[in-house]
Amino acid sequence: MVLVTGATGKIGSEAVRLLGPVRTLVRTPSGGADEVVGDFDRPDTLDAALRGVDTLLLIGPAVESQIAVLDRAAAHGVRHVVRITNHKSYVDSPVARRRAHARIDAHLKASGMEYTLLAPNFFMQNLLALAPEIAATGGFSGSAGEGRIGMIDARDVAAAAAAIAAAPTEHAGRTYLLTGPDLVTFADVAREWASATGQPVEYRRISAEEHCAAMVANGVPEAESNAQVFGLLAEGDGAWLSEDFAAVTGGAPRGLRTFLADCVGGKCRTPRLP
Ligand SMILES: NC(=O)c1ccc[n+]([C@@H]2O[C@H](COP(=O)([O-])OP(=O)(O)OC[C@H]3O[C@@H](n4cnc5c(N)ncnc54)[C@H](OP(=O)(O)O)[C@@H]3O)[C@@H](O)[C@H]2O)c1
Repeated sequence: MVLVTGATGKIGSEAVRLLGPVRTLVRTPSGGADEVVGDFDRPDTLDAALRGVDTLLLIGPAVESQIAVLDRAAAHGVRHVVRITNHKSYVDSPVARRRAHARIDAHLKASGMEYTLLAPNFFMQNLLALAPEIAATGGFSGSAGEGRIGMIDARDVAAAAAAIAAAPTEHAGRTYLLTGPDLVTFADVAREWASATGQPVEYRRISAEEHCAAMVANGVPEAESNAQVFGLLAEGDGAWLSEDFAAVTGGAPRGLRTFLADCVGGKCRTPRLP
């Protein structure tokens, strides 16, 4: 039995689709077949979800309560945890959520359960947050400068996660770095978005401080952390590629053009904006 958490999110919803019948942990009931209502922040709600589970696909925000989820999973005899972490989850990262990921990863490695970590680069789906500004102004502002980024389609993160959750043994103890096929900049995003929509798209370069203020004004969650990440991206934080997606799935990851054709063209399975 596989349990998928974060099942309503970008990775989880696609992983559930690919895996077929699995149990899901959701915070809000949606009428799914084997769905358990629970919350990382309320460990007592997790027992019903974890009962009889062999493999846990642990997806969700980098909150410390994931540590309690791991403890609960170990107590229930879960054998293998497949966890989505971050590609720069270091204990001394300047970004709080990356430090939290590092603490959760360390706890998992010490838990006695088998584990596989998936460490993706920047998600292409993050770009969908630009859509309202592009529609309203014909462009978007950002502070990632000319930083090159090995962006990955979250559907491909899901494909790798589903492949591993379906046959976890051979992936035990491994960390896979996940990227798309190309290094792209936000100038490339503007050009490809224009090409996908037939409308010009301007990339307005702003400072990290201006970007942070704009995100705060627009009510973007975790605006300060996001501004930190964009500043790091400008410095090359995301300028790396990996072949691990092909090694895990045997296929090729989607590129930016495919993502934009699917998701800006309206056919994307992503259930909501990031
Ligand atoms: N975005 C990026 O560029 C990027 C890059 C590398 C790694 N990551 C990592 O990817 C993960 C996010 O995956 P995603 O994009 O698929 O997620 P997402 O679309 O943001 O969805 C988050 C999921 O977690 C669930 N959730 C939130 N709080 C919860 C709680 N307290 N208890 C149980 N479930 C909870 C949400 O449920 P509700 O529907 O109830 O809200 C939702 O299903 C994070 O760990 C992030 O750090 C992201």
